[in-house]
Amino acid sequence: MTSQSASTASERPFYDAHAEAYDHFIVDPVTPWIDAVEAALTARGLTVRGLTVHDLNARGLNDATLLDAGCGTGRHAAAFSALGHEVTLLDASAKLLAIAARRCPTSPVHHDDVCNPSLSGPFDVVTCRGVLNDLTTDVERDAALRSFARLLRPGGLLALDVRDVERSRAGADGHPRTKTTTLNSGAVVIFTSRTVWCDDRLVVSERHEEVDSHGEMHVQEYLFTMRPWTSEEARDRLSSTGFEDVEVGPGVGGRSDRLFITATAG
Ligand SMILES: C[S@@+](CC[C@H](N)C(=O)[O-])C[C@H]1O[C@@H](n2cnc3c(N)ncnc32)[C@H](O)[C@@H]1O
Repeated sequence: MTSQSASTASERPFYDAHAEAYDHFIVDPVTPWIDAVEAALTARGLTVRGLTVHDLNARGLNDATLLDAGCGTGRHAAAFSALGHEVTLLDASAKLLAIAARRCPTSPVHHDDVCNPSLSGPFDVVTCRGVLNDLTTDVERDAALRSFARLLRPGGLLALDVRDVERSRAGADGHPRTKTTTLNSGAVVIFTSRTVWCDDRLVVSERHEEVDSHGEMHVQEYLFTMRPWTSEEARDRLSSTGFEDVEVGPGVGGRSDRLFITATAG
């Protein structure tokens, strides 16, 4: 199957025409996510090549095989690589993936759909941050989780960040939020997003206004939906797709409208 979010990745300006602006607008620190995933590995006593992550760290051998599914521009993948993990990149957006590949020059790169990836594992860790909200049907959600179960070795760690239903609904106030940046080319990009809640979905309208280096204005608008998760849904889906020891907690890094979810492949 091909998911809708994968087939439309090249239509969303934020993931394609304005991919260069992505890292100007998404600047939250990566450390909380990296620390949370490392802590989950340690807490679960997961071993890599017969050594716990704690032992590996002590020996400077921190080398789990890690798939960053929906890696975007590779901000977190690069941090995992810097720790010594062998990181593989996967994303449905060719433009964001190209930026990630530049950031992680030794990583294998897969332009693919998390719902039906063509690569094979096994990986010690699969991370998937901020991606599964874009899968809006039950079929797509289960397909992605089954893919992750297939790609992980038995006992491997899955770490997810998804949007929480109640907090996302509360934040969907319909107010426009605008950010402005200047790209290396000298072009100025003004990005405005507006989010409302409708039928258990976030409906997001985005507008990119770019004033290029010749002073000409280009405007692109895009409307899409995201489907946040409840803790119960995450537990049920992970259990029914082959995961064990599911833990659901608040989002890391003070992201109060997110859930941080970990599970072990059975
Ligand atoms: C909000 S961004 C998060 C990127 C990165 N994980 C981060 O935390 O910065 C969502 C990413 O998921 C990717 N994505 C969405 N649907 C996908 C799918 N079905 N398969 C693969 N990647 C997908 C998008 O292209 C985008 O890079």
